[in-house]
Amino acid sequence: MSLDKPYLDVPGTIIFDAEQSRKGYWLNQFCMSLMQADNRARFKADERAYLDRWALTEAQKQAVLARDLNQCLRLGGNIYFLAKIGATDGKSFQQMAGSMTGLSEEQYRDMMISGGRPANGLRVPGENGATRTQPAPPAQPTGARPAKARISAAVFSSHVPAIGAAIDQGKTQQDYWKPLFAGYDLSRQWLREHRPDVILLVYNDHATAFSLEMIPTFAIGTAAQFQPADEGWGPRPVPPVIGHPELAAHIAQSVIQQDFDLTIVNKMDVDHGLTVPLSLMCGQPLAWPCPVIPFAVNVVQYPVPSGRRCYQLGQAIRRAIESYDADLNVQIWGTGGMSHQLQGPRAGLINKEFDNAFLDQLITDPEAAASIPHIDYVREAGSEGIELVMWLIARGAMSDVARGATPDAAADGATGRPPKVVHRFYHVPASNTAVGHLILENP
Ligand code: DHB
Ligand code: FE
Repeated sequence: MSLDKPYLDVPGTIIFDAEQSRKGYWLNQFCMSLMQADNRARFKADERAYLDRWALTEAQKQAVLARDLNQCLRLGGNIYFLAKIGATDGKSFQQMAGSMTGLSEEQYRDMMISGGRPANGLRVPGENGATRTQPAPPAQPTGARPAKARISAAVFSSHVPAIGAAIDQGKTQQDYWKPLFAGYDLSRQWLREHRPDVILLVYNDHATAFSLEMIPTFAIGTAAQFQPADEGWGPRPVPPVIGHPELAAHIAQSVIQQDFDLTIVNKMDVDHGLTVPLSLMCGQPLAWPCPVIPFAVNVVQYPVPSGRRCYQLGQAIRRAIESYDADLNVQIWGTGGMSHQLQGPRAGLINKEFDNAFLDQLITDPEAAASIPHIDYVREAGSEGIELVMWLIARGAMSDVARGATPDAAADGATGRPPKVVHRFYHVPASNTAVGHLILENP
């Protein structure tokens, strides 16, 4: 993976990154369970039996039983999680830290009193005989350029729970729904013929996975699987979403290194914002056609991200995907919108002129679309029309748009060539919403 990981060779140090987190997921979750007194009592009563209830590897269990914290770190543990084991044993952080150094408790305490361990000689391997702690990253093959992932197309689509219900309940041919689903006939055919290896699906969570306890502005799903959520009507009868943890973790690290703050989500259910566009594009398959990486954007509680920020994030996502060392055809989907307002006396607002101007701009002048301020979405497209900012993430990731500030501007790779409009569709209404849909292919 072409990621900048300069921390891999710091002597005596293991940095807890996505790779370590994946390795140590259940080890760390076991540690978290020790924050409850009754779990601590069960663990202390029979450590082996308690550990056997968790999906730890045998090596991880042995490391916990031996209280070998260095081994726990190597096997994916993180010190703040592992500290719950030490706390259960009545140990302080100083006792835990000291136990990993080869010093006795007294020696370690005295070292700290004398000013702590000097950094001199411990910054890089070889400095005064220091050795690296983590294995060296695999050498990049020289000669032939390694295959890279690429974004082949962007799909844009509204989502509405009632559309999902119409599909699930076999109502797509009813007079009310027929024209809407007819607008997606070509799309389903196109997707069968242009099946990607992975879809990065930008959507918003509707008070489903994220309550008011935590509201991430941008969140990427790095799990292996995501279940369809129960939003109150019962979970939709659709397949689970298979994720792509490796590519998702790569995108997270790359995008965060480009100064965008993402929340990393290892467990969440996905609501209609994600499943309805999949149903519109795929129909009712037994399994979705490829892995899907959920990418959630907060458009529920203000402040929500600006269209410009979303557009720039799309550029960063394109850089991330194009630096992934695998021959993957990736599609990016931007969902939500178009004009709709679900609340208050202005509910039912639809603005065909605004919607169609937005579609025009998104295709030919995405810069202009990116500069639309929030207030215009609210006034013109309704309070829930703000979902349209998510379309700018997908548009910003297309190949005609420069990828933003790069160390090597010449290698930026923006083609400047506009995308091919494969399909454009607009329909009013679906429930309370104007439905817009676009398929754009990179040339
Ligand atoms: C509707 C539209 C939405 O975008 C949504 O999240 C919920 C409901 C609607 O039109 O009913
Ligand atoms: Fe919505």
